[in-house]
Amino acid sequence: MKVCVLGAAGGIGQPLSLLLKLQLPAGSELSLYDVAPFTPGVAVDLSHIPTEVCVTGYVGDDVEAALQDADIVVIPAGVPRKPGMTRDDLFNVNAGIVKKLVGAGAKACPKACFAIVTNPVNSTVPIAAEVLKAAGVFDKRKLFGVTTLDVIRSNTFVAQTVGKSTDEVNVNVIGGHSGVTILPLLSSIPGVELSQADIEALTPRIQEAGTEVVEAKAGAGSATLSMAQAAARFTMSLVAAMTGAAVTECCYVQVGDDTSSFHAQPVVLGKDGVESIPEIPSLSDYEQKLLDEMREILEGNIKKGIEFANAD
Ligand code: 2OP
Repeated sequence: MKVCVLGAAGGIGQPLSLLLKLQLPAGSELSLYDVAPFTPGVAVDLSHIPTEVCVTGYVGDDVEAALQDADIVVIPAGVPRKPGMTRDDLFNVNAGIVKKLVGAGAKACPKACFAIVTNPVNSTVPIAAEVLKAAGVFDKRKLFGVTTLDVIRSNTFVAQTVGKSTDEVNVNVIGGHSGVTILPLLSSIPGVELSQADIEALTPRIQEAGTEVVEAKAGAGSATLSMAQAAARFTMSLVAAMTGAAVTECCYVQVGDDTSSFHAQPVVLGKDGVESIPEIPSLSDYEQKLLDEMREILEGNIKKGIEFANAD
């Protein structure tokens, strides 16, 4: 298994690379790329940790060398939010970064699974789809927006509310990965019953949890450590699925016939990426209303990505 992290020297990339160095199966290769000149140093640093995972570092023009024959590409590259910014405000800088990196992946590892962390995920994933399509290598089963942070935040906040261990709570989160497009399904958590008042307090907290971190960091960026943990969990689920286990994770995938149909929901992962997409669990009236209200915003985010990718 070769896993390549693009943006590996950044705030998310470094802890993500550490978690993967610790968790990938013995014999795996972890390939790190970033524009930061010290990226090979991050690889040397990690290489001193005694696990059977070989780490290599690449910088500058070497992105295709880093990506060569990767099985999984995880992309946290890009700039984070500052207080007062929405994820969409990052579009102008990050859209171009994702376009370029996925373009390199289309050449160097066209059969890989691509897991996009770079915000705004609602738009950068459709950009990646269009780039792969233009290169003639798009497989909708192998492109994912990582929304796992919404799931782990929901699990944490719900566990705190009901006094359970976080291991006993598994919340499905659907829609997208930005503000009102984040819809935690709090009415149907196995083994947990929340009052409507709790649901209506927790839902906006989960939707704005990223902003909570941005404000607490006061200009120094957005979630990095929890995002790294979320991306590592998703990557390890992909690894498990690609090596034979059936794993379900909520993630942002193409659910219909074309790239305008990206949506986050529980997805069964298998050896070729998406194995099946079960029906969304039944929604309460409150959740249905929020789903109806977000639709236009999510569609606008997707359209913006598709148009950017196809502009000259
Ligand atoms: C978050 O939700 C960074 O988008 C990420 O905090």
